[in-house]
Amino acid sequence: MTADIKAGTAAGREKPFSPERLIIALDYSDPGQARALVKKLQPLGVGFKVGLELFLAGGPALVKELARQSFVFLDLKFHDIPNTVAAAVKSATTLGVQMLNIHAAGGKKMLKAAREVLPDEKDRPILLAVTVLTSMDDQEMAETGCHGTTGERVLRLAHLSAECGLDGVVCSPLEIDLVKNRAPGNLLTVTPGIRLTGDDSGDQVRIATPDRVIEAGGDFLVVGRPVTRASDPLKAVQEIFSAMQFIRSGKGGHNENK
Ligand code: C5P
Repeated sequence: MTADIKAGTAAGREKPFSPERLIIALDYSDPGQARALVKKLQPLGVGFKVGLELFLAGGPALVKELARQSFVFLDLKFHDIPNTVAAAVKSATTLGVQMLNIHAAGGKKMLKAAREVLPDEKDRPILLAVTVLTSMDDQEMAETGCHGTTGERVLRLAHLSAECGLDGVVCSPLEIDLVKNRAPGNLLTVTPGIRLTGDDSGDQVRIATPDRVIEAGGDFLVVGRPVTRASDPLKAVQEIFSAMQFIRSGKGGHNENK
């Protein structure tokens, strides 16, 4: 892990502002569109996320290309038997990405197997466990046979992830406080479900504004459509940056300024 990211592990709002704490989801089926957005936003120092859609279009070569230039989070959410997931994690580490993820619901043996194949040196990628998708609410989760609240399940999976030596979890902004204050292991939080006031929430359910993430002590923010579908993506990122820095500048919540 890089020194910058390690600095981000301290809980609380004193964390240094670093532009790569904002990760833009390159959710495109056309690698050309992804490259164009990267070219536009790279000068701002943000990180980028490659998910299933772009990975299936551009493959490992595109991931390597992007990872040579920027911070890249490979968001393929591996969920399989321990041997298969560990092998996939090992392959992913050859792409030069700085962050990757697996599903916490894969269980302890799978999580441990994935952690064990990571090299020990400090430059290794950050390994995250996905807890409960930000598109799910309590009712939808119950329909999959998991009872209780989404928060309870996130906390349970965060405990499991810490026990297995993972670096952090993917959760919604609403659970940062729970993970930071009630789970062991000083886990990093990576939160999708970020929207500015007035943004379309799309299929996301457990959402919050960027200033709330910073206030709760969250580490990384993942933003897709509010940037990729904006008429001016550069301006959209700058708005998110100013929301992220609002707390630190002591001016109160971002939305209170509107
Ligand atoms: O467009 P939007 O900002 O909703 O994009 C969020 C991104 O974060 C998507 O690429 C989605 O796949 C990803 N993600 C998520 N929830 C998770 C993990 C990843 O929304 N739990």
